[in-house]
Amino acid sequence: MKDAAPQTIYLKDYTPPSYLVDSVHLTFRLSPEHTRVVSRIEFRPNPEAANRDFFLHGEELRLHSARINGAEVTPQMTLEGLTCEVPDAPFVWESDVEISPVANTALEGLYISNGMYSTQCEAQGFRKITYYPDRPDVMATFTVRIESDLPVLLSNGNPVAQGDGFAEWHDPWPKPAYLFALVAGDLINHPDTFTTKSGKDVELNIWVRPGDEDKCAFGMEALKKSMKWDEDVYGREYDLDIFNIVAVDDFNMGAMENKGLNIFNSSCVLASPETSTDANFERIEAIIAHEYFHNWTGNRITCRDWFQLCLKEGLTVFRDSQFTSDMRSAPVKRIEDVIALRGRQFREDNGPLAHPVRPDSFVEINNFYTATVYEKGAELIGMLKTLVGDADYAKALDLYFDRHDGDAATIEDWLKVFEDTTGRDLTQFKRWYEQAGTPRLSVSEAFEDGTYTLTFKQDTLPTPGQDHKDPRVIPIAVGLLNPNGDEVVPTTILEMTGAEQSFRFEGLAAKPVPSILRDFSAPVILQRESSDQERAFLLAHDTDPFNKWEAGRALARSGLIAMIRDGAAPDTGHLDALQAVVRDDTLDPAFRALAIGLPSQDDLAQTLVNLGEVPDPMAIWQAVEVLKQTIAQHMQDLLPRIYAQYQVDDAYRADADQAGARALANAALALISRVDGGAQAQAQYDKADNMTQQLAALGCLIGANKGDKAVQAFYEQWRHDRLVIDKWFSLQIAYSDPDHAAEIARALTDHPDFTMKNPNRFRATLGALAGHPAGFHHASGAGYALLTDWLLKLDPINPQTTARMCSAFETWKRYDADRQSMILAQLDRILGQQGLSRDTTEMITRIRSA
Ligand code: BES
Ligand code: ZN
Repeated sequence: MKDAAPQTIYLKDYTPPSYLVDSVHLTFRLSPEHTRVVSRIEFRPNPEAANRDFFLHGEELRLHSARINGAEVTPQMTLEGLTCEVPDAPFVWESDVEISPVANTALEGLYISNGMYSTQCEAQGFRKITYYPDRPDVMATFTVRIESDLPVLLSNGNPVAQGDGFAEWHDPWPKPAYLFALVAGDLINHPDTFTTKSGKDVELNIWVRPGDEDKCAFGMEALKKSMKWDEDVYGREYDLDIFNIVAVDDFNMGAMENKGLNIFNSSCVLASPETSTDANFERIEAIIAHEYFHNWTGNRITCRDWFQLCLKEGLTVFRDSQFTSDMRSAPVKRIEDVIALRGRQFREDNGPLAHPVRPDSFVEINNFYTATVYEKGAELIGMLKTLVGDADYAKALDLYFDRHDGDAATIEDWLKVFEDTTGRDLTQFKRWYEQAGTPRLSVSEAFEDGTYTLTFKQDTLPTPGQDHKDPRVIPIAVGLLNPNGDEVVPTTILEMTGAEQSFRFEGLAAKPVPSILRDFSAPVILQRESSDQERAFLLAHDTDPFNKWEAGRALARSGLIAMIRDGAAPDTGHLDALQAVVRDDTLDPAFRALAIGLPSQDDLAQTLVNLGEVPDPMAIWQAVEVLKQTIAQHMQDLLPRIYAQYQVDDAYRADADQAGARALANAALALISRVDGGAQAQAQYDKADNMTQQLAALGCLIGANKGDKAVQAFYEQWRHDRLVIDKWFSLQIAYSDPDHAAEIARALTDHPDFTMKNPNRFRATLGALAGHPAGFHHASGAGYALLTDWLLKLDPINPQTTARMCSAFETWKRYDADRQSMILAQLDRILGQQGLSRDTTEMITRIRSA
């Protein structure tokens, strides 16, 4: 019944639900193959509905019986659910359905992972649990009874009863079905409490499988910090007696904000110094915050429909970035976010999968949990805040929570609170939500009689289905420096609204050096003819940390492009400027570590495309290798000093200070390994007592071709720890040379510990190959073929994870004819598979139509 032609859903077709739900009672009789779900749902006609058609979503359910007001009924089954004659007045629907959690490998709905029952309902997974109007604008209170012999039985809300073989939960806050959750298993809790600002005690638990209980402490601290931060910064208090987090090994995404019962991919919550890197700790802190923050931005105020996804995700990503900035270093977080934005979102926006932050159509909503909805969505909130200022942003958010608490809201509602707070007209700003593509911003300058003029032009290339683009409002943060390096005009926000616009600065004694788009004040591509001299000047003098880093990045990029295009030698001016930053003890070590980093190979490929060239992935890889080698030699004296100076003697802490020191020392180690043949890395590997240092050393050893023994030893040491073994899989591929990457990945898929049923392991292996541009795009085509083989194997088992990984092919139009035709052949091979999922069909079709 599933294989009907995929339907496209349009935002413009939205209609309110015909029936609303007041309350839901669910009883689960858990059994691996024959779970029974008994529902009792109170419906009433929606006065705002256009019709009285009664439709309930349902997929892969076996209906045993259905009743309306106590009388047995026989619904008509449709492809996606059922319809039924119902009274034109409030009524009670009851059904009894059977499902098989053990057969559920898609990890959507109710499934079993390592012996525990778990659910994932966002976006449309609840319909695999029972018949229901599975749409976010239908909100109801849920009461859940779980019957099972397993010791721990959890659901949303507060516990109301429990006894031998059962537990009951009640969630007083009306919610859409996508926020429903159930967990049952033999779990151990790491308990704590939090007292809210109004004095309410909340019980906190992190639930894990036995053996993982010593990896919960960090997550718990992150949760308490998040709760406090949301009270302090947004005035938002928690609203239940209990907050549970559960770690699950098999999970398609990172984590999920189910009301009162967040479910986490174990990789995003379990942490210990021995098994987790500093980057893991930072990510775990952020993701715990993210899911917790959804309690207000997502749960209390949810989305009217899935086109509004950025309403909760963009805002919540913005909030978790603010949180991380406050907990750690704001400039470092900003730089990390921009690296990720360019690496994922700009790439997406520039290819066949480009779509607006608020899309206007989709086939499979799971394919729209994208970098554009999330990361660009968060950038839009940041721009709004810049445009209205901090005070009005705070007022607008208070109004949003006041006005829309309990609502299923839209982007229009969101923008209206800003308009009502500030009196601004946000019609033009709304284009950011509606138009796909990254605006390109070019700049020219003039200086005459003490007046300095900056003239900006904006344009956006056509994207699929959108040829014409209107100019957007762009907040451009600018500062001006004197030739001696002093700042003469501090950061000023220029508000660009036209396609072309000039801004004047008067009374200047000399022609200044501009620092444009400070703190990356808008998600645009800045195109500015600039000299390497000026870049080096800004790298040395800019007071804006983001633009200081950006200047170094631009220097590295222009040097690399010259090496790739013209066979130029590495630019010594760049190396000296870089060395000065690395040596500068007044700068944050984490910042210096970021400054040593080079633009990604993917970034360089796109830069070449923008220059009208066809990128050669192997030439890019080689240029990066040569530059790294040159930097290592150029800084031969400095690097060992830096390495020694930033060794951490104190006991391990996962905080920003220690992590920054380790990041700088490890960046130095990576370069040192290029001149000492891996001796220092071996020494670090041998004495490492934390994963940050152990893994960094292992990477250096593999890179230096000295990794064989350590790779083996690492496996023996960690074979019992699945999250560490994920790292073991990906590292061997990430650090392999391009000629062998696909073969190494293929061999790893033969390893007894490889399993495609676990999304983390699949991503650690095939995702690592996709993330190695020169290996994946190897001229032999072996990378394309291997990824395709596995996408085809995984699709029938787990369409969501398969579809997400298809984006590896999204850049195919950049490459030469041979590569294009090899990729096309693989795309066609995928599309030719019988019974290909809707998820993967949509992705490959869109990619192919480029
Ligand atoms: N609501 C999402 C999880 C989700 C995504 C469920 C897609 C179903 C389909 C959650 O809040 C989320 O955004 N998680 C992110 C991590 C976050 C820190 C950006 C994730 O899982 O990657
Ligand atoms: Zn989210």
